[in-house]
Amino acid sequence: MDASDIYIGLMSGTSLDGIDVAAVSFDPTLKLIATHSEAIPKPLKQNILQLTQPGHNEIDLMGSVDVELGKLFAQAINSLIHNEGLNKNQIRAIGSHGQTIRHRPEFNYTLQIGDANIIAEATGITTITDFRRRDMAAGGQGAPLVPAFHDTVFRSPEHDRILLNIGGMANLTYLPAAPKHEVLGFDTGPGNVLMDAWVLHHQNSPYDQHGAWAQSGHCDLPLLNKLLQLPYFHEAPPKSTGREQFHLDWLTQQVEPYSTSPVDVQATLLELTAQTVVNAINTYVPSTTFELFVCGGGSRNNALMARLQALLPNNNVCTTDNAGINADWMEAAAFAWLAKRCLEGKSGNKTSVTGARGERILGAIYQA
Ligand SMILES: Nc1ncnc2c1ncn2[C@@H]1O[C@H](COP(=O)(O)OP(=O)(O)OP(=O)(O)O)[C@@H](O)[C@H]1O
Ligand SMILES: [Mg+2]
Repeated sequence: MDASDIYIGLMSGTSLDGIDVAAVSFDPTLKLIATHSEAIPKPLKQNILQLTQPGHNEIDLMGSVDVELGKLFAQAINSLIHNEGLNKNQIRAIGSHGQTIRHRPEFNYTLQIGDANIIAEATGITTITDFRRRDMAAGGQGAPLVPAFHDTVFRSPEHDRILLNIGGMANLTYLPAAPKHEVLGFDTGPGNVLMDAWVLHHQNSPYDQHGAWAQSGHCDLPLLNKLLQLPYFHEAPPKSTGREQFHLDWLTQQVEPYSTSPVDVQATLLELTAQTVVNAINTYVPSTTFELFVCGGGSRNNALMARLQALLPNNNVCTTDNAGINADWMEAAAFAWLAKRCLEGKSGNKTSVTGARGERILGAIYQA
């Protein structure tokens, strides 16, 4: 491999289940070279969660979390380099998404933290971060940013494809086979975030393994129908969302007028994720013959995957593993790609997705 062929993508998503690091090369096609997952210590996770909602002394808390995350991101990257025996000279750049603590497109701001100065200093590698705000400055949602990557690595000339990432939130990318048709992409709503919050509260478990707890209950239709009325689900794209909308207090308020048992709420939340995805596809995707490829942690939830397939009986539903890209590392790989685009002076957004006025080079560069 030539020098400086490798890009490292670092993703710390809304689920706070861990920091994903992927070393990838793109010559000539995407290749996953090495991966590493770094746990987020519980007190740090608590502080991040606190920062996702308005609260006391936010700036001081943000400052300390920004530093702590910068150090943890650098540690995660250095661990991957060390464990895999990679040579730093082979690594051209790091693309760090950062930890979202607020995403408020309605006020034209989005905030990801995890100081890239610290990452560049502690790794000795050029680091790119702050990918979303240039798109917002150009009038876009700043999200989702993965569709341009999906377009590059996943588009098929023969088949219409949909890529669905089920992380904390769920976002989809429609990749039409015909090159002249536009790529679509937007957040459909909650992915795992509500299910995770509910199972943590009631079962003290960070997530519902394979949706087994949800499957032992029954979907409460009146509650589901109430949740489905949320205006977000009926807004036309471009749109994106986050923990500001979907969090435990909001969910508790929604559930309160109903006498639904906790297990039935969990079943209802799983159905909510499945139905909002499929409703979004049926409403906005102009193809009925697509294949649906799922990535992100939700793709490991068998019960959720089964519901998606049941709601789309005429389409093949599978994980991106089936197309040769490990579903657990797609998002991290996307930020490695975005780092490459930035250094090459090429755009990283899709105006048909984010609604920005034009394509823009995304990210700020912190030199090695
Ligand atoms: N075996 C499994 N069964 C059920 N759910 C799972 C399983 N494995 C992972 N998950 C879910 O996936 C979540 C993590 O997904 P992921 O890392 O893709 O999301 P994320 O960190 O929010 O990323 P992003 O914001 O980039 O989408 C976990 O919190 C959990 O809810
Ligand atoms: Mg994650």
